[in-house]
Amino acid sequence: MNNDEILQLRQKHLYPTKVPYYKTPLHLVRAKGSYVWDDKGEKYLDVIGGIVSISVGHNHPRIVKKIKTMLESDAIQHTTFLYLSEYMPELAKKLAEVAPKGLTKCYLTNSGSEANEMAVLSARTFTGEPMVVGLQHGYHGGTTTPLSLCGHSTWKFRSQPQACVTHAKAPYCYRCPFGQKKESCNLECADDVKETILTTTSGKIAAFICEPILGVGGFIEPPVGYHKKVYDIVKSFGGLYISDEVQTGVGRTGLHFFAIEDSGVEPDIISMAKGIGNGAPMGAIIARAEVADSLKGKLHFNTFGGDPYQAMQAATTIDIIRDEGLIENANKMGRYLKEGLQELQKSFPVIGDIRGRGLLLGLELVKNQKTKEVASAEAAQILEFAKEEKLLIGKGGLFANVIRLAPPLNISKAECDELLGKMKRAFEKLAKA
Ligand SMILES: Cc1ncc(COP(=O)(O)O)c(C=O)c1O
Repeated sequence: MNNDEILQLRQKHLYPTKVPYYKTPLHLVRAKGSYVWDDKGEKYLDVIGGIVSISVGHNHPRIVKKIKTMLESDAIQHTTFLYLSEYMPELAKKLAEVAPKGLTKCYLTNSGSEANEMAVLSARTFTGEPMVVGLQHGYHGGTTTPLSLCGHSTWKFRSQPQACVTHAKAPYCYRCPFGQKKESCNLECADDVKETILTTTSGKIAAFICEPILGVGGFIEPPVGYHKKVYDIVKSFGGLYISDEVQTGVGRTGLHFFAIEDSGVEPDIISMAKGIGNGAPMGAIIARAEVADSLKGKLHFNTFGGDPYQAMQAATTIDIIRDEGLIENANKMGRYLKEGLQELQKSFPVIGDIRGRGLLLGLELVKNQKTKEVASAEAAQILEFAKEEKLLIGKGGLFANVIRLAPPLNISKAECDELLGKMKRAFEKLAKA
């Protein structure tokens, strides 16, 4: 099928909500490590991994070997939870080993949206309260509850009702909603969670949900101390703390397996997806035992969650991250890349802010450094110029003006240099355009 035929079929038979990147969309056919190839045989350095989903590189040899062994031995593909299978509990055990202390019980899902549905259902069941507090600029998925918790008008639907959720201001230092400076603020954004609970709920909540770094929002990194202060506020109102680690998890931020631990917070529930399956449709939550056990006596299931192939891929991804020291590499390469990007910023004033940590790095583009007018068209152009340079990057933010970089955690220094060189050339092209 040629690309025009694919596009025509997409237009005719697929929902129009999923829009491909680029004026001439790319048709990717092959992948290995940090690289992907298109239908013409062109090779690209992939530093976005679909949507932040490739954590140990495309087609990691250890995963490929296990898939081949399973296929060659006619391993069962679909067991559901109705029959015994070692893959499901083995993955849950591994998740408990890498999760913060006290989180021991998992529910395996097929996506991040489903994981967050389950996280909220668990919190509501445990507390007996319906209200959930989310953040403006937050994103938690495309199903009913996560969409209600979404803090972006761009993703919401006018006809879609939202119930029992409320939103506090985002901890968005570059555009502080309280007009403060990052270095000298009093964490007014954390206080706003209290204000939101006091003014828009009964004073009791089921949970607060937030991403340690707001991914779709444009890699918005809250100020130091934010999560801890919010945690104490949430506890004082009887709520559970849910850390949505769909983008930040699996060691991407370079310090711990789950980014919330970087802040010294022990959440009640963590949700995950994307990088945990390294491209396989895998999601999960891990919760405190008493939270999970509050659902006892109720029937609740999904058909595919934790089936052998995807559970094996997630478990092997965890092994690879641990065995190959990839959290350390994310830290080291993340620092190296950030320094390189900060060097670029000196030559290209369109880069207003560089943020994030580990291998989750964002560049917010602005037309003017003082007024901070968003540079959305410029961000779209950078994506096109990067593609010309054979580099795949992502974009995000409420106004789609944030360039997002999330390479595999095993990216090498040489690949980081390649990435920086390609980014430089893309920004030079933008400056000339
Ligand atoms: C932080 C976060 N949570 C949840 C989701 C939803 O995950 P999925 O698309 O797998 O349903 C996303 C997807 O982008 C996400 O970024």
